Amino acid sequence: MIDWHSHILPNMDDGSRNVSESTTLLRMLSDQGVDTVVATPHFYATAESAEDFLRRRAQCHESLTASIPSDFDCPRILLGAEVKYYPGISAREDLRDFCIEGTRLLLLEMPFSEWTEYTVRELNVLACSKGVTIVLAHIERYLPFQKSDLWNRLRNNGILMQMNASYFSGLGTRRKALRLLEDGFVHMLGSDCHNTTSRPPLMSRACGVIRKRFGENFISQMHEYGHSLLVYK
Ligand SMILES: [Fe+2]
Repeated sequence: MIDWHSHILPNMDDGSRNVSESTTLLRMLSDQGVDTVVATPHFYATAESAEDFLRRRAQCHESLTASIPSDFDCPRILLGAEVKYYPGISAREDLRDFCIEGTRLLLLEMPFSEWTEYTVRELNVLACSKGVTIVLAHIERYLPFQKSDLWNRLRNNGILMQMNASYFSGLGTRRKALRLLEDGFVHMLGSDCHNTTSRPPLMSRACGVIRKRFGENFISQMHEYGHSLLVYK
């Protein structure tokens, strides 16, 4: 199983605070059946240059991999970023630098408010002409703000959608999560884990909910589809 969204890099953002916490998170993910985890630290273009971000990310990654015990069958870690959208982002020439390692998948965090027509148009420009495939991070968080016909428009332009595992495991949100999955609006699952306490990884719980509703075959197909997205470009 792939965890497409995580904050496991130590001391990188508001996620894991140190190497020890990162290693515990990796153990939790491994116990939950995750074989590949995408590390997606926040990138805020208004706060940091791309160069600084990428350098810090490389350092945090290095410190983590150097401390993983040799007897731990650690999930494969792929580097990525959770890039905060801002008006004008489509003018950037370096978007590929933030894509998930080896792919053209760009995880984008969108505003938690109703998106303007400009924003929607810019998303479509990103999706169609910038050589990247847009993945909307934790799609469930935008649902209350957008008109329901928007998702079809975006999906028709090849935009992918990631949902957090906690949306499946939550009693109050489970039904909606399953409906969106059934309707084809969830392409990827992510833990969006930040720590071991208040925001832990809940991948196996989410898979359990999905398995119970749609069966083992469905889960296998989700995993297969996920791995097909990691075909290196
Ligand atoms: Fe996140």
